Amino acid sequence: MKKVLVATEKPFAKVAVDGIRKIVEGAGYEMRLLEKYTSHSEFLEAVTDVDAVIIRSDNANRELIESGKNLKIIVRAGAGYDNIDLAAATEKGVVAMNTPGQNSNAVAELAIGMMIYAARNHFSGTSGTELRGKTLGIHAYGNVGKYVAEIAKGFGMKLFAFDPFVSSEVIKKDGLTPVDTIEELYKGCQYVSLHIPANAQTKKSIGAELLKLMPKGATLVNTARKEVIDEEGLLKIFEERPDFKYLSDIEPDCKNEIIEKYSGRYFFTPKKMGAQTSEANINAGLAAARQIVDFLEKGIKTYQVNK
Ligand code: 3PG
Repeated sequence: MKKVLVATEKPFAKVAVDGIRKIVEGAGYEMRLLEKYTSHSEFLEAVTDVDAVIIRSDNANRELIESGKNLKIIVRAGAGYDNIDLAAATEKGVVAMNTPGQNSNAVAELAIGMMIYAARNHFSGTSGTELRGKTLGIHAYGNVGKYVAEIAKGFGMKLFAFDPFVSSEVIKKDGLTPVDTIEELYKGCQYVSLHIPANAQTKKSIGAELLKLMPKGATLVNTARKEVIDEEGLLKIFEERPDFKYLSDIEPDCKNEIIEKYSGRYFFTPKKMGAQTSEANINAGLAAARQIVDFLEKGIKTYQVNK
C-alpha cells in the first residue's frame, strides 16, 4: 500500500486534513500525519518509507529528500517552493510540485488587512489615514498580486504593477498602469506590495536604493519572503525616513532593532500567516492530495517545478 505523509510544522485546519485524508484513502493509500513537530529529525524519520509528502513551508532539504528511500513526489501545498532542494529532488528522481493560486486570496487579504491596520495607526485611537486615492504598486503581478489589485480597486486605490514576465496588455486590461522599471514603481507608489519569489536573483534585492525612492508616507508590505529584503538597507531607511513603515508576514531577522527604535512604524506576524485560513488550507491541501494521486496513478506532472 502506498503511503502519503502530510508533514506540517504549522498544521492545516482540521477540515483540510479531513479532506486530504478522504482523497488519499479514497485512492487506496495510507495517510500519515506529522504536525507541529519540533525538530527536523522527526520529519527525517517520518519520511523514510513513504511514497509521497505534502508540505507547507517545511524544510525539504537534501537530507530530507535522501531520507525518503521510497519517495517519488513531494508537493508544496502553496506557492513558494524555496523550501525544497530542487537539485537534490531531481538527482533522486523525486518530482517536486507546488499548488499555484490555491492560497493566493488569503495572502492578498492579509496584505490589505495589514495596510489598513497601519494606515489606522494600529487602531490606537489616534487619527489615521485612508487607502482611497493612495497609490499602490504591485511588485510582481502573479496570483497574489492579482487578488491584491482586485481588492485594492474596491478601496479606490490607484494601481500600478511591475512584472517583466507579464505583458503590459494583461496588466492594463485589469485596470492597472504597467510600469517598465522597478525604480519607476517605487518612485510612484506610496504603498508597495511585494509578491516576488525568493530565489538567487531576488534575495536581498529590496534595499535602501529602491526604498528611498518612495514618496512621502511610504509603506512597504511584504507577504512574500523575508529573504528578498536587504535588512541593512531596510534599517537605513527606517533611520533616515521617519515616514517609512514596514509591514511583514513573518518577522525580519533585525526585528529587535526595529521594535526597539521605531515604535508604531512596523507590524510583523509572529508566524507566517498569509495562507493561514481554512479556505486556503482546503484549496491548497486538497489540490496537493489530488496532484499526488494523479501523479502516482496516471503519471500526470502538471505543476512540476523541478523540470
Ligand atoms: C506560500 O508560499 O504558499 C505561502 O508563503 C504560504 O506558506 P505556508 O503554507 O507556510 O503558510
